[in-house]
Amino acid sequence: MAKIISGKEVSAAVREQIRKECDELKAKGIAPGLAVIIVGDDPASRVYVNNKKKACADVGFVSEEYALGADTTQEELLGLIRELNNKKEINGILCQLPLPAHLDEKAVINAISPLKDVDAFHPSNVGGIMIGDYNFLPCTPAGVMEMLHSENIDITGKNCVVIGRSNIVGKPMAMLMLHENATVTICHSRTQDLKGICSKADVLVAAVGRPKFVTADMVKEGAVVLDVGINRDENGKLCGDVDFESVEPKASYITPVPGGVGPMTIAMLMKNTLKAAKIQNDIR
Ligand code: GUN
Repeated sequence: MAKIISGKEVSAAVREQIRKECDELKAKGIAPGLAVIIVGDDPASRVYVNNKKKACADVGFVSEEYALGADTTQEELLGLIRELNNKKEINGILCQLPLPAHLDEKAVINAISPLKDVDAFHPSNVGGIMIGDYNFLPCTPAGVMEMLHSENIDITGKNCVVIGRSNIVGKPMAMLMLHENATVTICHSRTQDLKGICSKADVLVAAVGRPKFVTADMVKEGAVVLDVGINRDENGKLCGDVDFESVEPKASYITPVPGGVGPMTIAMLMKNTLKAAKIQNDIR
């Protein structure tokens, strides 16, 4: 039987710390502010944006929502970002992805000031992560690491396998694990013998975006299993990339969906926004 690492509990502790530090900043006349941009009406994005705004209110940050129509032009969006880059009350800027197909995601990410890029998506922040010199850690991978730390799981020398090679999760996830001295393998849709590689993992991170993709036969006895997926199963019920029911009895630790990595991602976004406010006000 695995120990379940609750993202709800771990993220609550992180948020509590942020709330305290936010109060200290407010005493100095500084109110951390996050701008959240959403373009179009993707229902999942709407839920994520609402949760991010709620989290801001919970820790005491100011949040501003910019809900733009699906027909917004690239120029309009870039104009808004330029405005927010210069707005003193705003410390962090987040543009919810994916964007409608006619918009150039790369150009949008590039337009956000790296000092306000609380997603850590800007190439200069991504580069910083590669060499271990950064202000902001990418939220989802940082949330996964925080869950490992909460249980004092030392990954030094361990065989860590990440399934998924996205810029947002898979690649930075591998880098953060490497920084903690793990031996890291990234698997993806072209990987040969996926099952063989996964079943040797001491720590397995699933970030594929396919419901219940990781089954018990892919998991080593006693492995730590971290599930980044947020999917709907055949009955429309929220589920992860891991087949929780079959994998849980084999794992030593496992994260649930919902209530696992999801809340951690948002807590890390709050952490980055707090840091952005400190940097922009010359507080270390
Ligand atoms: N879409 C899915 N995950 C994320 C995220 O972490 N940040 C942004 N900006 N968009 C997303």
